Amino acid sequence: MPDPAAVAQAAAILCDGGLVAFPTETVYGLGADALDPKAVARIFAVKQRPADNPLIVHLADAGRLDALAVTTPCARRLAARWWPGPLTVVLRARPHVPSVTTAGLDSVAVRVPAHPVAHALLRAANLPVAAPSANRSGRPSPTTAQHVLADLGDAVDLILDGGRCLHGVESTVVDARGDRPIVLREGALSREQLDAVPGRAGGSASPGTRHRHYAPACRVLPVPIGEACERAETLRRSGAQVGLVAAVGGGTPPGVLDLGRFADAAGLAALLYDAFRRGEAAGCEVIVVESVAEEGIGRAVMDRLRRAAIR
Ligand code: TXA
Ligand code: MG
Repeated sequence: MPDPAAVAQAAAILCDGGLVAFPTETVYGLGADALDPKAVARIFAVKQRPADNPLIVHLADAGRLDALAVTTPCARRLAARWWPGPLTVVLRARPHVPSVTTAGLDSVAVRVPAHPVAHALLRAANLPVAAPSANRSGRPSPTTAQHVLADLGDAVDLILDGGRCLHGVESTVVDARGDRPIVLREGALSREQLDAVPGRAGGSASPGTRHRHYAPACRVLPVPIGEACERAETLRRSGAQVGLVAAVGGGTPPGVLDLGRFADAAGLAALLYDAFRRGEAAGCEVIVVESVAEEGIGRAVMDRLRRAAIR
């Protein structure tokens, strides 16, 4: 739950053009006043984020959407059903939204987070807050305040510590300009839940899904369901430092570092980025991760896993 004094301090920093990292139900965000181009430019500098990758603007409630974007019946329907929550809608931007925030596009991505600390901060600052995930560009998204500190340290004016994030995977980004939502980035809410259509590969995807992403310094190796323990053992025998993230069940081979066990895709989402960072810190050369079925949140998890595996 939010600490009123900390939230007030954080809100004052945002109003003053500063940077505040804060928890959401998906991952931690690195926030700045979305309408202040200088403040937003600092986000890009601190993250070393490519300037062609637009930011998500966070609002305290759906009532503020109209001031930023041209709403559609589709967006209103989605907002009524899923906000506050891990859904981002892309709409036509109002002209006063700075181009640094939208990366020069004529659209803007908006979401209303459900985390009580994020909500309290947005209410107190009374601003639309641009916030990408609070990691250095290309790294795994932070799911704890410690992850933010490790990546960004003193470059952030304040970090609000809200403990571990619930979902552990980012929001689902959909294009809501048409009649039916089109998925631009898979996320915590599934296509099935949103009754959304998949985006065409390439063309319509979010700019941010083009690059290698979500990756620790060491190699990530996704393996088919049921093969993780065996693969980890083989790699270990060949002399590698091996970390393992697998479904509950099988034992951990001797000499292999157990980085976490999951019961289902939501469980893997919740521990994956933290496991990447712990494996990296422990000196693993390779982290073997057991796959999950590509349905529901499993689609987002497998998307992140594949992107982290690109060398
Ligand atoms: O869960 C989340 O979405 C977290 C929390 C902090 O809200 N934020 C997050 O932001 O993951 P970021 O910047 O790491 O990812 C935003 C994604 C990128 O893939 C970006 O390209 C896409 O949203 N995006 C932003 N604006 C867009 C737009 N106008 N059109 C298409 N995609 C957009
Ligand atoms: Mg990100």
